[in-house]
Amino acid sequence: MGMSREIIRKAENLVERSMKGNDPSHDPPHVWRVRDLALSLARDQGLSSNSDSMLVIELAALLHDIGDYKYLTDPSDENIVENFLDEEGLEEDKKMRILSIIKRMGFKDELAGLVTGENSLEFGIVQDADRLDAIGAVGIARCFAFSGSRNNVFHNPAILPRSDLSKDQYMKKEDQTAVNHFHEKLLKLKDLMKTEAGRRRAEKRHKFMEEFLNEFYEEWDGRA
Ligand code: ADP
Ligand code: NI
Repeated sequence: MGMSREIIRKAENLVERSMKGNDPSHDPPHVWRVRDLALSLARDQGLSSNSDSMLVIELAALLHDIGDYKYLTDPSDENIVENFLDEEGLEEDKKMRILSIIKRMGFKDELAGLVTGENSLEFGIVQDADRLDAIGAVGIARCFAFSGSRNNVFHNPAILPRSDLSKDQYMKKEDQTAVNHFHEKLLKLKDLMKTEAGRRRAEKRHKFMEEFLNEFYEEWDGRA
């Protein structure tokens, strides 16, 4: 127990250090929200608070965006999470569970059918938590923050939503709009939830995004 408090505190420090300057779609408060959501989903799913699983879930939630390619400036940072867990002397088994959660979490890989094998409950909980933070009111705020940080436009009716976002396209502003991101990703997340607890919470957030988009189109078209 003492050791796990310590490693969590160090993981929080790593999050602060490596994500502090990011735009607010991927800054430390995103990580704190995902950690809180993940722990809360885990309790809803009946996991007990001092189990091994809780530690794996909390660390995976804290570290899940540290090596995100969209924000990496130094390619040698790619192993930053694994190096951290090695240095902290976390048991091999827990380390592998954490790394496998983080590696499998991405949306594009899932859409492309690249994520194979069994989904553990630990994995489902952390992924659902990250996806809950991408939808609802906070999800809307994050979408426009990310979009603004890339100088993308809000909306352009001439640009149609695409389903094939490559790594390079994510970085470019041509043919990307904030509103299209709802259709390309955010409105799909509700049906991709892995846990019952996540699915329940996604409903309300999803409805709120639909209302937001209806209102947005009304105002954009001069109907409101
Ligand atoms: P994942 O790690 O699951 O692939 P991302 O890191 O790509 O997810 O996205 C996290 C959040 O960042 C999204 O839910 C969204 O809020 C925002 N975001 C990512 N790409 C875009 C984009 N092209 N336009 C607007 N928002 C985006
Ligand atoms: Ni995230």
